[in-house]
Amino acid sequence: NTMLSWQRTVFHFQPEKNWMNDPNGPLYYKGWYHFFYQYNPKGAVWGVIVWGHAVSRDLIHWLHLPLAMVADQWYDKNGVWTGSATILPDGQVIMLYTGSTNESVQVQNLAYPADPSDPLLVDWIKYPSNPVLFPPPGIGTMDFRDPTTAWLTSEGKWRISIGSKLNKTGIALVYDTNDFKTYERVEGLLHAVPGTGMWECIDFFPISIKGENGLDTSINGENVKHVVKVSLDDDRHDYYAVGTYDEKNVKFTPDDLKNDVGIGLRYDYGIFYASKTFYDQSKERRVLWGWIGESDSEYSDVAKGWASVQGIPRTVTLNKKTGSRLLQWPVAEVESLRLRSDEFENLKVKPGSVVPLEIETAAQLDIVAEFEIDNKALEMTSQFNREYECSTSGGAAERGALGPFGLLVLANEDLSEYTPTYFYVVKGSDGQLKTSFCSDQSRSSLATDVGKKIFGSFVPVLEDEKLSLRILVDHSVVESFAQGGRTCVTSRVYPTKAIYGAARLFLFNNATEATVTASVKVWQMNSAFIRPFNPNQRN
Ligand code: FRU
Repeated sequence: NTMLSWQRTVFHFQPEKNWMNDPNGPLYYKGWYHFFYQYNPKGAVWGVIVWGHAVSRDLIHWLHLPLAMVADQWYDKNGVWTGSATILPDGQVIMLYTGSTNESVQVQNLAYPADPSDPLLVDWIKYPSNPVLFPPPGIGTMDFRDPTTAWLTSEGKWRISIGSKLNKTGIALVYDTNDFKTYERVEGLLHAVPGTGMWECIDFFPISIKGENGLDTSINGENVKHVVKVSLDDDRHDYYAVGTYDEKNVKFTPDDLKNDVGIGLRYDYGIFYASKTFYDQSKERRVLWGWIGESDSEYSDVAKGWASVQGIPRTVTLNKKTGSRLLQWPVAEVESLRLRSDEFENLKVKPGSVVPLEIETAAQLDIVAEFEIDNKALEMTSQFNREYECSTSGGAAERGALGPFGLLVLANEDLSEYTPTYFYVVKGSDGQLKTSFCSDQSRSSLATDVGKKIFGSFVPVLEDEKLSLRILVDHSVVESFAQGGRTCVTSRVYPTKAIYGAARLFLFNNATEATVTASVKVWQMNSAFIRPFNPNQRN
C-alpha cells in the first residue's frame, strides 16, 4: 500500500514485510553480527512466531537470510519464542529459546548451528531431545519463558535465568547446567519484585565500574556491578536496576533499594520493549537491542503490510558520574550514514518563539544539540517548586518559566504537524534545578487513529553541564537521548504532511521567562539499504 509507504524507515532494522517483535539471540560470529527476531511470516500482526535472521558487518547495514527456525515441532508448534545465545570458550554457539508447545505450555529448547564453519550460520538444528526444561512445580505453564544468555559460575557451571511470576510478584528463576541439555534448578531467586507481574525477557549482565569497555557475560569480581533488566508484561516497558550479584547466594541486590523499588529505572521512556544485550567481543562493548512497536492501529499495520522496527543498537555503559544508572548511546557505526551537515551556532531563542532551521530535508536526520538557559532567568525566575512530569503534563504547549524548549522534528511548514522533543526545567525553593526530557506526540499527526502520548522523564544534569540531546529521525521513528544517554525516549509518529521533502526542523522555546542559547548540528542520513542476501555477494 503506497498510501502509507512514507512511514517506512530507512536505517532502522526491519524485515521486508510482516510482523516483528522481540530481538533474539544477538551475537557476533566469525566477522558477522547476527540478529534474530520474533517474526510472523503470515502477516502484519502477531501470530505463530518463527525466528527471522539477518547478518551485518557493522550493526547498521543488514542482509536478510532465510528463517532460522520455524514452528515445526510439537514443543514449539505454537511459536518459536524468545531466546538468547551463549558463545562457549571454544567458540561453539548455543541457542536457548522458549517453545510454546502444541498445548501452549512454555518449555525451553536447545538449538545449535548445523555448520559451525559457516560464518552466516544459515542452518540450525534443534536438539532431538527437546524440550530441555519444563515449567517447575508451582509455576504456571504459561509463565515460564525467555531464557537469558548463560554465564559461568565459579564452579565452572553454566547458569541461566528464566522469567516468571508468583501471584503478582515478578521473579527470576535460576538454573545451572554443564551441557545445556540437563539442568538443575537453583534454590532461591536471582531477583523478585512484588506487584510487577510476569517478567518477560530477563537480561542479566556485568558492567564495569571503572572502564568504558563492555564485559563478557561471565565476568565477575572487583570493579564489576551487575544489571538486571525485565520487561513487564503488564505495563509493556523495560525496567532495570544496577546492583550487586552475590554468586554464592544467587542473589542480585539493587544499589538503590529505596528509590528504585528493586527495578525502577527505564531503558527508555517511550516505546521500547523486550530488549536484550549481547557482548560484542570484536569491539569489547555491550550492545543493546530493543523492539520499537507501532502506535497506529492494527488496521493501518495490515494496510501497510508491516509492523515494528528495532532501535538502533545502543552501546551500554555505567554512568560513572551519576552512579547506578546506565548510559545508552547509538553505536558509532550509525555515524557512517551521516551525509551533508548543517551547523547553527549560538542561536538566541526568545521566550515564545519558533525558529526554522534551514536544512535540505528533515525526514532522515541525526541531530545533536546543546542548550543553555540565560543566567538571569535562572536566578530571577518567579517560579519555584513546580511539579512537572512529562507524561501528565500538557506537553510542549504547557508553558513554564524555564521550559519547554528544544526541537520540533517531523514538522511541516505551517506547523499543523510536529513532534516536540524538549527540556523542561524547574527550580526548587532550595535553588536546585530539576530537568525533564520529553517527547510530545500529541501534535505529531493529523491522523486520529494513532498514539499521541507525551513521553519522558527526569534527567540528571550535573553542575556546569549544558543541556544536550541527540535525536535520530527516521520517517516514523524519533529516538532521543539526553545528557549523553542518561534518559532516552523513543517515539513512533505518523505524520501525514510532514513527510519526505515536506518535513522541516525547528527550534522552539515555549518558556515564559528564559531565553535559551542553542547550538545545533544536523546531518542528513543515508539509507542503510537493508535487503535480502545475495549469495554472490558473500564477500
Ligand atoms: C515478549 C514476548 C516474550 C515471548 C515472545 C513471543 O514480547 O511476549 O515473552 O517469548 O514475546 O513472541
